[in-house]
Amino acid sequence: MKRMLSGIKPTGQLHLGNYIGALKHFVEYQDEYEMYAFIANLHCITVPQDPQELHANLRDCVALYLACGLDPKKATIFLQTDVRAHAQLGYIMCCHTYMGELNRMTQFKDKQAKGERNLSGGLYTYPALMAADILLYDSDYVPVGEDQKQHVELTRDVAERMNNRYGDLFKVPEPLIAKVGARIMSLSDPSKKMSKSDETNKGCIYLLDDLKTARKKVMSAVTDSLGQVKFDPENQPGISNLMQILSSLSNDRPMADIEAEFAGKGYGDFKRAVADKVCETLEMIQGRYQEILASGEINEALAIGSDRANKIADAKLAKVQKAIGMEII
Ligand code: TYM
Repeated sequence: MKRMLSGIKPTGQLHLGNYIGALKHFVEYQDEYEMYAFIANLHCITVPQDPQELHANLRDCVALYLACGLDPKKATIFLQTDVRAHAQLGYIMCCHTYMGELNRMTQFKDKQAKGERNLSGGLYTYPALMAADILLYDSDYVPVGEDQKQHVELTRDVAERMNNRYGDLFKVPEPLIAKVGARIMSLSDPSKKMSKSDETNKGCIYLLDDLKTARKKVMSAVTDSLGQVKFDPENQPGISNLMQILSSLSNDRPMADIEAEFAGKGYGDFKRAVADKVCETLEMIQGRYQEILASGEINEALAIGSDRANKIADAKLAKVQKAIGMEII
């Protein structure tokens, strides 16, 4: 069985972009692949965090993994800090990643370009830690949204470099990017990615938004004056973004099908259909989320998951340390 690994960094509440670009696919793949889904809490602290908020977000993230359908009997679900090999291999990867490579990573470059001050060293070297996350498990595939592709490509480069230097250490992984919904855009500004750092709070639908709020966000999404439901991301980015959301939440319904259904109808009808679908999805997730919080499922899932993950990660770390000459015995 091929192996797959991915993670989410809950620096805030999980949102519809995380679900459509990543989480939904973890769930779909868990039957077909050996799936490792972790909560990237080391990555969270690359930017300042309020400890209480972070703690709550981590629990919510595990609860949402389960509520969206990840099954601890099939998938290995764990917290990054429960597997210490991540930090240890992360340091080794950092020593094998060039500064020139890190300088090219757009996420760091964007923050720097915005003039954000006091960016941490951890934020800069974060892609090396991400490489460790992936390579520890000999992952064949890494299902991610489009914004993470560059990091998986860097992971491939560093893995190949280390394989050439030390022998066959790592499997070289491939990014797996969904055809629909790999980059969900902000509802209030479709030129920007939907993200947790949305200042207006209008462009981002959180998985735990109450249904009324979520519906309002969809109904007030920015569109255009062309008055046609057509998939044309360049000229109709707002409408195309809503179409991606609708398609992805309806089993990747073809765009032509959606265009045909709404031909000659107004944007109001179309937005209502998107809002219905979004609310239906959130309602299902939120119902399960409440049950999970009231049960002991979170601790149970993490205990099983960290046990499984540690076994694999420890063996890989030992192999790497030996190959690079860091062991005495
Ligand atoms: P993060 O937490 O920013 O995002 C988690 C996943 O959600 C996807 N995503 C989106 N997809 C579509 N549209 C959007 N608007 C959108 N926003 C986010 C991301 O592409 C990602 O797949 N560095 C990673 C976490 C990480 C990781 C890893 C992932 C750490 N180690 C190892 C895979 C493998 C991150 O910050 O994702």
